[in-house]
Amino acid sequence: GDNVLYLAHRHGIDLEGACEASLACSTCHVYVSEDYCDKLPEPDEREEDMLDMAPLLQENSRLGCQIV
Ligand code: FES
Repeated sequence: GDNVLYLAHRHGIDLEGACEASLACSTCHVYVSEDYCDKLPEPDEREEDMLDMAPLLQENSRLGCQIV
């Protein structure tokens, strides 16, 4: 299905996504705007674990491939 990672690629946005959405990397790390953050379900534990390895982690950090 569509997630932010695939949408980014489709629109020519340079977001890596090395593991192709299998939650084995953090290269699809994105910052979600505050308004939209509130509308998303909380990241699950596997996403959190991967996020912990992302550089420059922020409050609004998510993995792009997990945002659907
Ligand atoms: Fe690897 Fe999202 S592409 S976790």
